[in-house]
Amino acid sequence: MDAQLSERLTTKHPLGALVTEGKTKKIHLIKSGSDLVTVISKDDITAGDGAKHDIIPDKGRLATATTSNVFRLLKACGLPVAFVEQDSATSFVAPKCQMLPYEVVARREAHGSYLKRNPHFSKGQLFPQLIVEFFLKTKDKNWKGKSLVCDDPLLIYSKDAAQIQLFNPAKPLHGQEPFLVLSQSEVFGHDEEWKIFPDMRRIARHAFLVLEKAWQLEGGTLVDFKVEFGFDSKGNLLLADVIDNDSWRLWPGGDKVEMLDKQVYRDLSEVTDDALRLILAKYQTVASLTKNFVS
Ligand SMILES: Nc1ncnc2c1ncn2[C@@H]1O[C@H](COP(=O)(O)OP(=O)(O)OP(=O)(O)O)[C@@H](O)[C@H]1O
Ligand SMILES: [Mg+2]
Repeated sequence: MDAQLSERLTTKHPLGALVTEGKTKKIHLIKSGSDLVTVISKDDITAGDGAKHDIIPDKGRLATATTSNVFRLLKACGLPVAFVEQDSATSFVAPKCQMLPYEVVARREAHGSYLKRNPHFSKGQLFPQLIVEFFLKTKDKNWKGKSLVCDDPLLIYSKDAAQIQLFNPAKPLHGQEPFLVLSQSEVFGHDEEWKIFPDMRRIARHAFLVLEKAWQLEGGTLVDFKVEFGFDSKGNLLLADVIDNDSWRLWPGGDKVEMLDKQVYRDLSEVTDDALRLILAKYQTVASLTKNFVS
């Protein structure tokens, strides 16, 4: 653990072994409870799958505050969420999950890669019914030894054909043939995994509707979000990982809130200290507004 982190990290529970470390988080087992982990947010900000990378001191604390507020609200609404309690300024306790390799995206408006897949939509077009999409989480354009044309392809599962089709997410979907068709056993950890797709869709939709209303009450517009799922040790499907200010597009809905999410960082042509200070202020605003979700 780096000095900066250990200094600020006074977790309620003694830390056990490191389970995994990613670009923005470290996951440690908790010594006393074998099926619990502590999810530690780092101060790293990344875009383009790590191509752009900076450190914003204090971001980890704000990310933890935001995720904790969001997960408390979702739990209070009866959603199955991998969250137990916040246990330090930069970490929260969660059930240790076997994470599933999917990114589940819910959209209220057409933006970003959705427009590339569906070029006949205009930017910002509203979806009266939420759109939910699945992407396969991949690294190095490879899935279990099979090479891919791109990472994180769009995944369409056809139950009847028992097939998983992968599409280039940056190309129009209409008229596009899948670049790879996989059998269930090539993707799923176990035979029945296809059954959780309707569940992931339902939970993602429900979570989005709750957060959309919560943001509306704070004068913001939740445009879209990305969530991930995992199984706890008893095999329950949980909405896991985090939902923080890097998980969504969050836009002005009135005069109270201005464009608040990570998009500002993605769009920076030159990363200056002033720009990072401005971005930190946005994370501060979001952490502070989400306090109202649960009070
Ligand atoms: N409750 C949990 N139990 C176990 N693992 C978790 C839990 N929550 C998150 N993780 C995992 O912790 C890892 C580190 O998180 P981080 O988001 O920093 O990784 P990353 O660099 O974004 O890579 P990835 O693409 O896998 O998310 C991720 O693989 C994530 O799936
Ligand atoms: Mg991640």
